Amino acid sequence: MFKDKFSEGIISAKQFDREDIEYILKKGKEMIQIKNSNLLQGKILATLFFEPSTRTRLSFESAMYRLGGSVIGFHSEDVSSIKKGESIADTIRTVENYSDCIAMRHSLEGAARMASKFAKIPIINAGSGSGEHPTQALLDLLTITEEIGELDGLNIGIMGDLKYGRTVHSLSILLSNFDVNIYFVSPEILRMRNRDKDFLQQQQVKYKEITKYRKILNILDVLYITRIQKERFVDIEEYEKLKDFYIFREDDLENTKDNFRLLHPLPRVTEISPNVDISKKAIYFKQTYYGIPMRKAILSELMTE
Ligand code: NCD
Repeated sequence: MFKDKFSEGIISAKQFDREDIEYILKKGKEMIQIKNSNLLQGKILATLFFEPSTRTRLSFESAMYRLGGSVIGFHSEDVSSIKKGESIADTIRTVENYSDCIAMRHSLEGAARMASKFAKIPIINAGSGSGEHPTQALLDLLTITEEIGELDGLNIGIMGDLKYGRTVHSLSILLSNFDVNIYFVSPEILRMRNRDKDFLQQQQVKYKEITKYRKILNILDVLYITRIQKERFVDIEEYEKLKDFYIFREDDLENTKDNFRLLHPLPRVTEISPNVDISKKAIYFKQTYYGIPMRKAILSELMTE
């Protein structure tokens, strides 16, 4: 059962098989109908965000309140005892006494996994460095299934910073459970990392790596664009060279199918021109909405008996 399998929390998209994904998508879909409830009354979620966030933290908090629960936490490195030199392990062993579940974002790739080793309550990885962001990928799949349809058979482009972008790592891992064709579109030096590609190859995922997106626009059902992850670059000059590598513009939409949809986990910088926003094919703000039902589904699975 989902609850038993995920009793330590959600650390990586690799924990999910197709059945788990279908189960949580079904629960997410049900949550669209239930705006407010008291399912998690008396429960407390702790949100520990050591890195900036708008959507992830606020949608976790909103989801918790909408289920009748409460939220404690911090969202800056500067305000917790980590600033005084306390370890993540000690922070977790403290916060677990104050809450029933912890959603954590940290710049270190292994932070959430390490936290889960120390915690007696479920840990949710709300973004771990350039590593993973599994709950974003789950809400991305809920967006696709609600707005487009079945995942099997789709042609999906994933474009931008595929090296440092954690959302694209988790998304491609989840998609590896479905019969999809993936086009990874990036500058040469921001390709998917070998460890991610090794996993996809093991799973026999059909994917291609390309640099130019215009020639595949007419076959895509979904294009998932991400921002170049400035904060991960060691050499800021390299970032400056790449930051405007892709700018998706209004006229790009002309070459797309009627049912083509454009997704982005946000924040957007310059990679999608604001003129595109009014198109019905641009669904990245709807995508932010799906964070609520998906996170309600996740929280209720992790915190109810
Ligand atoms: C992403 C993240 O934090 O990884 N944002 C999000 O959670 N919606 C994407 C990004 O920062 O580019």
